[in-house]
Amino acid sequence: MADNTVMERLVSLCKRRGYIFAGSEIYGGLKGTWDYGPLGVELLRNIKNAWWHDNVTTREDIVGLDSSILMARTVWQASGHESNFTDPLIDCKCCKERFRADQIMESQCPRKPSKHPGEHHECQLTEARKFNLMFKTFVGPVEEDAQMVYLRPETAQGIFVNFKNVCDSTRIKIPFGIAQIGKSFRNEITPKQFIFRSREFEQMEIEFFCKPETSQEWYARWRDARFKWYQDLGLKGSNLRLREHGKEELSFYSCGTSDVEYMFPWGWGELEGIAHRGDYDLKQHQQFSGKDLTYFDDETKERFLPHVIEPSAGATRSVLAFLCEAFAEDQAPNEKGVMETRTVLRLHPRLAPVKAAIFPLVKKEGMPERSMAIYKDLQKHFPVFYDEKGAVGRRYRRQDEAGTPFCLTIDGQTATDQTVTIRDRDSMKQERVTTDKVLGYLLERLKS
Ligand code: GAP
Repeated sequence: MADNTVMERLVSLCKRRGYIFAGSEIYGGLKGTWDYGPLGVELLRNIKNAWWHDNVTTREDIVGLDSSILMARTVWQASGHESNFTDPLIDCKCCKERFRADQIMESQCPRKPSKHPGEHHECQLTEARKFNLMFKTFVGPVEEDAQMVYLRPETAQGIFVNFKNVCDSTRIKIPFGIAQIGKSFRNEITPKQFIFRSREFEQMEIEFFCKPETSQEWYARWRDARFKWYQDLGLKGSNLRLREHGKEELSFYSCGTSDVEYMFPWGWGELEGIAHRGDYDLKQHQQFSGKDLTYFDDETKERFLPHVIEPSAGATRSVLAFLCEAFAEDQAPNEKGVMETRTVLRLHPRLAPVKAAIFPLVKKEGMPERSMAIYKDLQKHFPVFYDEKGAVGRRYRRQDEAGTPFCLTIDGQTATDQTVTIRDRDSMKQERVTTDKVLGYLLERLKS
């Protein structure tokens, strides 16, 4: 998949099949914003549900949280975002475009795309200046400085400021984590690569609090567990890597950060960062709020600021990685047995928006009624789709493009022996299964 048109074809499939649309599209679009259509919203939800299930529901040492997007301005002063969450911005006085100074060599001059900004004889680039990425808004009716707040640029700070609330309201003991999924906002200078770098996106973050002396061990555990999570959901082989940051890349308070990276069609990109944050955040909030955020250990009778390991993932960025990995073109026979190119999304069954499609072979001889009965029955368990229009081969192709792992066809034989065919999206092989075994058959395979 290393050709330049892959992204174009994927973006076009996403629009055609109702995965992802450009934000405010009928008004010409709003750069860096994206809307998730009927299939996209299911894929995004399945990713978030899989994350929540694997990291919260099935663990005793993690609890959930849903904090506000709008938070007191002091939160961002304490965290360092107000003074440091900046990118270096360069303007071109000639074409009026803006560029990130650290990405000039990956950017194109709008006047001459074969050149980088600054290389065209008319370019007039300014010096780089710091541009804060947080969006500002106002609480209350008066737009004055005192009422100014930021839309959160990460969900993590909502967790830190609730550390004491969670400790006081639960009986959870260290080591434990607080997990949160939610929207974050960054006024990116150059939103790009489809949904990869957006101005509004979703994150899935855990802050895991532990004793300082166990923090290195937890860091290693989380780093490995998070890498495996993506592998288990289908991001395999040479497209996925774990990259440990060099000393020069680390924040002053961190003694370890690793990125889970995916090989997107344009190159490696970060999916998730696993960072050892020490006690930096709790210390800062303790100082700025004046509240005691230490933890009291009942067993050792010690009071201390826990150290924190932060696995911080992008939910919407994961959508793109799973779509890139799933997107494939192979050869399949058409209605007349002639081989033709088929587009297929080989999404992991846990992530596929629709789990099975149900087709009557023809619209007569009781086939629609029998199909509808199976459809209604399966609908109680997972998302399914009913389609009776057009040639069955074309219906299969539509579902292949939508990523549906199984297609059931109810044909003439169903009335005599109560069997239906179940077609596997990836192998295109068909099996006959009796109608009373269909649910069990699908449930077993959807787990894998
Ligand atoms: N609390 C730590 C934190 O926010 P980050 O590396 O800035 O760390 C974590 O963000 C993850 O959020 C990234 O690995 C990426 O998956 C996602 N992310 C960050 N900025 C994004 C953007 N502009 N668009 C989409 N996803 C983004």
